[in-house]
Amino acid sequence: MTETVGSLLDSAAAALIQAGFDEPRRIARRALGAVLEISLAEMLSRPEKVIEDLQVRRVRLTLDRVFAREPLSRILGRREFWSLEFALSADTLDPRPETETIVEAVLRRFPDRHLPLRFLDLGTGTGCILLALLSEFPNAVGFGVDLSAGAATTARRNARLLGFGDRAHFLVGDWGAAISGKLDAIVANPPYIATTLLGELPPEVALHDPRLALDGGKDGLQAYHSLAMDLGRLLGSKAIFFGEIGSCQAPAVAAIIRARGLVIEGYEQDLAGAPRCVMAKADAVAAQKSVGMRCLPV
Ligand SMILES: C[S@@+](CC[C@H](N)C(=O)[O-])C[C@H]1O[C@@H](n2cnc3c(N)ncnc32)[C@H](O)[C@@H]1O
Repeated sequence: MTETVGSLLDSAAAALIQAGFDEPRRIARRALGAVLEISLAEMLSRPEKVIEDLQVRRVRLTLDRVFAREPLSRILGRREFWSLEFALSADTLDPRPETETIVEAVLRRFPDRHLPLRFLDLGTGTGCILLALLSEFPNAVGFGVDLSAGAATTARRNARLLGFGDRAHFLVGDWGAAISGKLDAIVANPPYIATTLLGELPPEVALHDPRLALDGGKDGLQAYHSLAMDLGRLLGSKAIFFGEIGSCQAPAVAAIIRARGLVIEGYEQDLAGAPRCVMAKADAVAAQKSVGMRCLPV
């Protein structure tokens, strides 16, 4: 039987509906678009376009992996974040749309895009937060740290592919331990899921995102306990920390941060109104003098 863009799209969407997927048509369009290398506009305007057998087989193989609950981004090896394309690897989290809240929060707090800011991204993964920021601040430089050497390698590669290789530097390290000097903004999306809840994650997450990127320890807050230790030392007098948090974690994370002598600046909310980004500043009295940036290369 001759398959066309339209017939493949319809049969893929029908099978996804039957398998209980949310947004089946969107998934089917993304899968077809990526495998056939055609735009959504072309897909919709030329449904009669005939697809050769080899391509049909490739679409079906891709959909088989989707039915097995492998995220399309993992199959394709890439994910769009802040309208930039990021390569994924087995060592990196698949960036989530809600993490763009951190980028938006930084843009709101630093309205002058020409400032020569220095960013630090703790737990950088693909480097998505840092590189999104560098795309918005052409004179800024940034440092990304990850405990996973594989993640740091992927982030470095993304920086190069996106054209930020000269302004982004990636290190393997334990949160801020290998960094000294003062930053203008520190961003972090640390793992914040309690270990006991990991078993409840959907297979798309549990089987494909690295545990190091998810596991927040007994109470989900272990990463915050650790990384908060370095914030006072690394934040300049006007600098701000921006950290992603789970939707019910605001009071607990604020207490951890305050216990380190920082002041909570506020929260950014997600579309459901839950606080998902905590912002904190160094206590003006306790702020230390700037000593310039020094990073330990690996
Ligand atoms: C939730 S993922 C976030 C990745 C990326 N920033 C993003 O938003 O997509 C958390 C990241 O923290 C890293 N990580 C975990 N423990 C760490 C530690 N002790 N020091 C530095 N990075 C760590 C993980 O490897 C992972 O890349």
